[in-house]
Amino acid sequence: VPITTIEWSGDASKPREGHVRLIDQTRLPVELVHIECRDTETLWEAIKVLRVRGAPALGVAGAMGVVLGLRGTKAATGEELVKETDEVAAYFATSRPTAVNLFWALDRMKAKAREFAAKADGGFDTGFDTEEALRELLAEALEVLKEDRETCRAMGRHGAELLPDEATVLTHCNAGALATADYGTALGVIYAAVEAGKKITAYCDETRPLLQGARLSAWELTQAGVPTTVICDNMAAVVLRQGKIDAVIVGSDRIAANGDVANKIGTYGLSVLAKEHGVPFYVVAPVSTFDLTLDSGDKIPIEERPPDEVAMPFGVRTAPKEAEVYNPAFDVTPAANVTAIVTEKGVLRPPLAESIKEQLG
Ligand code: MRU
Repeated sequence: VPITTIEWSGDASKPREGHVRLIDQTRLPVELVHIECRDTETLWEAIKVLRVRGAPALGVAGAMGVVLGLRGTKAATGEELVKETDEVAAYFATSRPTAVNLFWALDRMKAKAREFAAKADGGFDTGFDTEEALRELLAEALEVLKEDRETCRAMGRHGAELLPDEATVLTHCNAGALATADYGTALGVIYAAVEAGKKITAYCDETRPLLQGARLSAWELTQAGVPTTVICDNMAAVVLRQGKIDAVIVGSDRIAANGDVANKIGTYGLSVLAKEHGVPFYVVAPVSTFDLTLDSGDKIPIEERPPDEVAMPFGVRTAPKEAEVYNPAFDVTPAANVTAIVTEKGVLRPPLAESIKEQLG
């Protein structure tokens, strides 16, 4: 079942007329509805409240957001184009801080604007073609989306080899088609293993406070026909102790040069449990999720979200107004707890700092 998480709607040769169309993930699993973002504010809000979320999907959203912000441009020189592109990119950079894929994609768009500007301004005085600049920027955003599709399939192929037939996989949050252009990272491994003829069963941590595991992963896995069991986050220890799980597989929002992995809050705890019970803990993430400028996960910025997500989830008060709430959206799993990281290039094994340097440095 193809899931079109995010797409550019409109003729690729007429960027000024197109818009971003995405699944409103806050409405799942009750209803599958799409929203259309015709201005940067609507897309920024969609990112902020998690209508679109998941690291690779945020990269695609950011890239398309830059085009959206330039639809009305009157830039008449390369310099003006670069300035406007930087401004729109800076705006989307304020949406969510942890997933580095967003910044990676914004940087790609900024580089594309510079490349076009250099070509136009340093060329043979043929004049600056604003429409051509927009077309090239849209083409770049569409390329980010296309590459993500291919990347997810490559990760799936590499990761599927790690799973024995009849494996039961525990996952956390949603690192599936809904978190990427399609197919997914962690869930892509499950899909690829199933496509390779293996019988795979999934357990999804519901993933408090916003329930991406229960609402999104369980939704797409059951749509794909994968037998799926939802558990509350605090049941993972028991399920692991009962020997029901063969592998824990998660995605990531940012991986530091030493192999420390930021992912949805609760992932770190799960890694400790997996280690305690001798179950492999795999992280599946594209190369664009690595931030080699950070030598340790301690330096990864962790988003803190509004208290009401914890104390009044989905509109129901579950904690007194008087109580303080701490709501970090992500945590960092130390490299020592990670059995392997699967990228589109292959499987990275410990010592992770060295394998990362060798393969990606
Ligand atoms: O807050 P979210 O829903 O954007 O968090 C998403 C995750 O933590 C995912 O596991 C991560 O982005 C990897 S997605 C392939």
